[in-house]
Amino acid sequence: MALLLDGKKVAQKIKNQLKDEIKKYTSKGLRNPSLAVVLVGNDPASEVYVRNKRKACEEVGINSIYIHLKEEIPEEELLKYIERLNKDDEVDGILVQLPLPKHINTQNIITAIDPHKDVDGFHPENIGKLATGMKDCIIPCTPLGIWILLKEYEIQTYKKDVVMVGASNIVGKPMSLLLLRNEEATVTVCHRNTKDLAHHTRQADILIVAVGKPHLITEDMVKEGAVVVDVGINRLENGKLVGDTDFEALLNKVSAITPVPGGVGPMTVASLLVNTVSIYRQKHGFEKHPLTDI
Ligand code: GUN
Repeated sequence: MALLLDGKKVAQKIKNQLKDEIKKYTSKGLRNPSLAVVLVGNDPASEVYVRNKRKACEEVGINSIYIHLKEEIPEEELLKYIERLNKDDEVDGILVQLPLPKHINTQNIITAIDPHKDVDGFHPENIGKLATGMKDCIIPCTPLGIWILLKEYEIQTYKKDVVMVGASNIVGKPMSLLLLRNEEATVTVCHRNTKDLAHHTRQADILIVAVGKPHLITEDMVKEGAVVVDVGINRLENGKLVGDTDFEALLNKVSAITPVPGGVGPMTVASLLVNTVSIYRQKHGFEKHPLTDI
């Protein structure tokens, strides 16, 4: 039976630590850290994610500033909001929930965020620094969360064959870049045009899947004893939440696996808080947060 990588538990531990740390700052007279969360439109899934992020902020003592804008907002107007948040000294982090409505150029918005406030780590300056191994970048939340979770369970990545399924800017690409830093792991990235997905996934010591397709990874596609990290969050017609893997079938074959829900999801949120506190720390003359020191 596989070991369950309990993201919910590890995320709670991180939140408790952050709460104590923030109390230490405020007791010295410093203001609370703050995160601006921008949501455009009324996508139900995005509304749930944003609510969870804001609730987590509140739990640890991060002041969350919520800006909910109408679906039809012109790009120039959204850019003005970002400009205002960039200039506001009381705002440590800025997060614009994705996806954005089709009439808005996502890359224009991401690039407009001050790279030092870019808690998501999506700005080309941060991605470029991640790619070139510069330590002063902000690491995107899901890859950072997966890294912290693996380390918490003492799962080594060094010299391992890691297969990343999914090449998105949010997960697949930055996760691969993080694992390539210091020539840590041998990384294969698969995506929708990969010729023979199973051929690659069967080689993986660590298989990370971030596609958004329920049951994409079946038992015959994984190696005995592999570690599986399932980033997918899919709601089935019967209302059940599942990942991208055949979780039940994999349980008897792999050595460790993340459940959905309760695996990567809570770790993404915890990493968002870590990134926010890390930015705040550096603004106040402290070192970046140790959990971001990879
Ligand atoms: N949409 C899905 N995942 C993310 C994320 O990590 N950050 C933002 N801003 N939007 C998302």
